[in-house]
Amino acid sequence: MSKINESPDTNGKYGKIISNLPQDDGWKPVGTLYKYQGFWYGPSLLQNVISAQESFTPQPTDIVLCSSPKSGTAWLKALAFSIVSRNQVDDSTNPLLKKLPHEIVPFLEIELAHDSNNRNLEIPFVATHIPYSSLPKSIIDSKCKIIYICRDPKDVLISHWNFDQQVSGIGSESFPLEEALEQYCKGIYPFGPYWDHVLGFWKASLEFPEKVLVIKYEDLKTDGPFHVKRMAKFLGHPFSMEEEQEGAPEKVVNMCSFENLSRLEVNKNGKYDLPDLPTFVNKSFFRKGKAGDWKNYLSDGKAEKFDQIMEEKFSGSGLV
Ligand code: A3P
Repeated sequence: MSKINESPDTNGKYGKIISNLPQDDGWKPVGTLYKYQGFWYGPSLLQNVISAQESFTPQPTDIVLCSSPKSGTAWLKALAFSIVSRNQVDDSTNPLLKKLPHEIVPFLEIELAHDSNNRNLEIPFVATHIPYSSLPKSIIDSKCKIIYICRDPKDVLISHWNFDQQVSGIGSESFPLEEALEQYCKGIYPFGPYWDHVLGFWKASLEFPEKVLVIKYEDLKTDGPFHVKRMAKFLGHPFSMEEEQEGAPEKVVNMCSFENLSRLEVNKNGKYDLPDLPTFVNKSFFRKGKAGDWKNYLSDGKAEKFDQIMEEKFSGSGLV
């Protein structure tokens, strides 16, 4: 049994800050979580978040892809990359055929936390799970566009619970779904609470529609081409009439579909190594890729209670 995060290095640069923060041990696969600027983090990631806040500098043309964990981050990376690079790569040369989306687009709080340039600078993307209110000021003050993906929180919970069990080796006997549900209702799990995470980006998208775009996982599922065109326009790479007639948006959707990506050798058998984290097997990022899988896990009563909490938190925001 191994936890996803190590205990904080209290002698480290941020050890003192971290050890004085509110703590909670209820999300067992990670161990102790710390509440920083209203959100919960494991200790290693939190050190990286603080370091990124202090030192990260984006490239002026960067696009920042944001999400709460298990909301469709890899899918968003694949789509945004395929939209922007569609005139440089085709269906046989797209790097997605050989690389996990996370290897193409690095995470701000992982690979770039201590060195903004620890990446292929020709790829103008950075991804992050950091909430809007805690993003480095350098991103907020820049002209970088931000796309945020969100998803039905019940599916996020089920995806997160399955993923963390698999990665940590802590099984459902030690961390039953009821416990994970309780933690989600309290908002205490890595990068929680969900409602504040989503609302931060949602409100920013209303205030700065040219800078922040919010996309829903379920909308991408029901009308991929429409939302791919929306993203392309927002990013300043609109599809021409000719491209639309040739079905270019549909091609992007098909290349990035769960069915296509999950059957690729790299995503079936590859591994992904990250500093300070356990080695991930790529297939753990492609579980079912469905909207509504929560129905296989939560009773109607539990789902209703969870929905009620979310509705209360989102009430008045215009977000459904
Ligand atoms: P499930 O666990 O419900 O299957 P993230 O990328 O933020 O970690 O999110 C992971 C979730 O997105 C997983 O959900 C995963 O299966 C799903 N996913 C990954 N690639 C996808 C794709 N191309 N299309 C739709 N869903 C995808």
